[in-house]
Amino acid sequence: MLNIVIFGPPGAGKGTQSELIIEKYKLVHLSTGDILRNEIANKTPLGIEAKKIIEKGELVSDDIVIGMVKNKIEGNMTGNGFIFDGFPRTKEQAEALDKILEDNNTSISVMISLDVDEDELVKRLLKRAEEQGRTDDNIDVIRNRIKVYNEVTSHVCDYYSKKNKYRSIPGTGTIEEIFDRISAVLDEYAPKRSCCG
Ligand code: C5P
Ligand code: MG
Repeated sequence: MLNIVIFGPPGAGKGTQSELIIEKYKLVHLSTGDILRNEIANKTPLGIEAKKIIEKGELVSDDIVIGMVKNKIEGNMTGNGFIFDGFPRTKEQAEALDKILEDNNTSISVMISLDVDEDELVKRLLKRAEEQGRTDDNIDVIRNRIKVYNEVTSHVCDYYSKKNKYRSIPGTGTIEEIFDRISAVLDEYAPKRSCCG
């Protein structure tokens, strides 16, 4: 299996690049933010709780997101692999993810971290607010999301770095340029297709 963590601050382009990656490498997209937004849209008990947290730009508890991820992984073990988008956001989530994958006889292949400076992130998220109307894409919440990223989530890099699984890529340029950089890394990890001829 090819199991990737796509990583970076809010607005780095994780969702956009995930769409291209799943298409090329035929992976299951596991976006915890999308799952939570779906729960909110369906007004489930989890969604009602998550809405309050997301609208402040804070993090939903490890137990809840780990439970969501475990279900989705165990329901999709027959595929080529997963791309984890927006998860893990804490060291505890990273450790739990390793344990779930190990219990299912697989592991993370590589973490790809998209590097984008803060001014550019804010610009992109304000543009997305106009296009998609996400309630957490407003300037106060954006600043808090970036703060939570810097204070908590950014340390997840060290976890993968210690395992030699951390690769940082410039997250600026055109969508295609960024995707080419990601593909160059993923091609090192993707199972080689048998070749005919
Ligand atoms: O990943 P994304 O940026 O779409 O997540 C949106 C929001 O969902 C985050 O700002 C956070 O409030 C919440 N979230 C979370 N834990 C995760 C993923 C998302 O708390 N693992
Ligand atoms: Mg996203």
